[in-house]
Amino acid sequence: MSPKRIVFLLRLVTLILLCLPALHLAWLWYTDDLGARPVTEATHITGDWAVVLLLVSLALTPARSVFEWMPLVQIRRRIGVAAALYAVLHFLIYVADQKWNLIVVALEIAKRFYLTIGFVALLALVALAVTSTDGWQKRLKRNWKRLHWAIYPAAVLAILHFFIQSKANVGEATVAAGLFAWLMIWRFLPPRLRTRYAGLALLAVGATLAAFAFELSWYGLVNHVDPMRVLRADFDPDLAPRPTLKVLLAGVAALALVALRRGAKTLWTGRYIRKNIPSS
Ligand code: HEM
Repeated sequence: MSPKRIVFLLRLVTLILLCLPALHLAWLWYTDDLGARPVTEATHITGDWAVVLLLVSLALTPARSVFEWMPLVQIRRRIGVAAALYAVLHFLIYVADQKWNLIVVALEIAKRFYLTIGFVALLALVALAVTSTDGWQKRLKRNWKRLHWAIYPAAVLAILHFFIQSKANVGEATVAAGLFAWLMIWRFLPPRLRTRYAGLALLAVGATLAAFAFELSWYGLVNHVDPMRVLRADFDPDLAPRPTLKVLLAGVAALALVALRRGAKTLWTGRYIRKNIPSS
C-alpha cells in the first residue's frame, strides 16, 4: 500500500473512532440509559474522554519515536482538536445543567476552584485547537510552537480538575496523572534512552512511582489518610488492580508492544531479503 493511502486510511479510521464516544453518549441519552442522573453521567463521560484524548494526543510523539512509524504524527492534530471538542461538550452539558443561566455559570466558575482551573484548561484547549491549522502555523511562525507549549499546563490543570472533583476516590485521576508522568518523563529522558528497552523499563517504573506519589500526597494532604493505609491498600490483592498497578501495566504493555513491533519488523525484513535479494 502506498504511504499516501496509509495516511488516508489512518486519518479516516481515527475520525470514525473519535466520533464513536459522542455517538455512544447520544445513543445512551436517546434510550434513557444514563442512569438516575443522566446530566451528571454525561458530564463525567465527556470529561473522561477529553482527558483520554488529551493524553493520546500527547502520546503520539513518543509513539512515533518508539514504534518508528512516521504516519502517527498525521493524526495528532485531529486527536488534539477532538479533545478540545469533548471538553467543549462537557462544558456545554454543565451550562445546560445550570438552565443556560450564564450568570450562575460565571459565578460558579469564579467561586469554585476546580471549575476555575477547568475553565482555564478549556480556554487553552480551544485556543490550541483553533490555531492548529496550517494557516495559523504560518501566521504565528516561531510563536506557534511557543503557544502550543501551553498543552502541558493545560493538561496539568485538567488532571488537577479531575482530582478535585473526584472527592473521596481519586483512582481514575491517579491513573491519568501516572500516564501523564510517563509522557513527561519520556520528554526529559536523554534522546538515546527514549527508544531503548532500558529507557522504556525506566519509564514504566518512574511513572508508577509518580502515580504512587500523587496518590499518597492527595490522600495524605487532602483527605488526611495515613500513608501506611494507602500503601497497604496498594498491596492488598482484594483491592487489585489499584491505580499504581494499572500505570505499571500500561508501562509494561508499551514495552511489550515495542518489542512485538521490532520483532515483526525484523522478521519481515529477513523474509523480504531472502525473497528478493539473491544470495551470492
Ligand atoms: C469551564 C470548564 C469546565 C467545567 C464547568 C467543568 C465541570 C465539571 C463538572 C461539574 C464535573 C462533575 C463534578 C461532579 O460530579 O461533582 C466535572 C468533572 C470532570 N471534568 Fe470538567 N469541567 C470543565 C472543564 C474540563 C476540562 C477542560 C476537562 C478536560 C480536558 C475536564 C475534565 C473533567 C473530568 C475528567 C471530570 C471527571 C469525570 C469522572 O469523574 O469520571 N473538565 N467537570
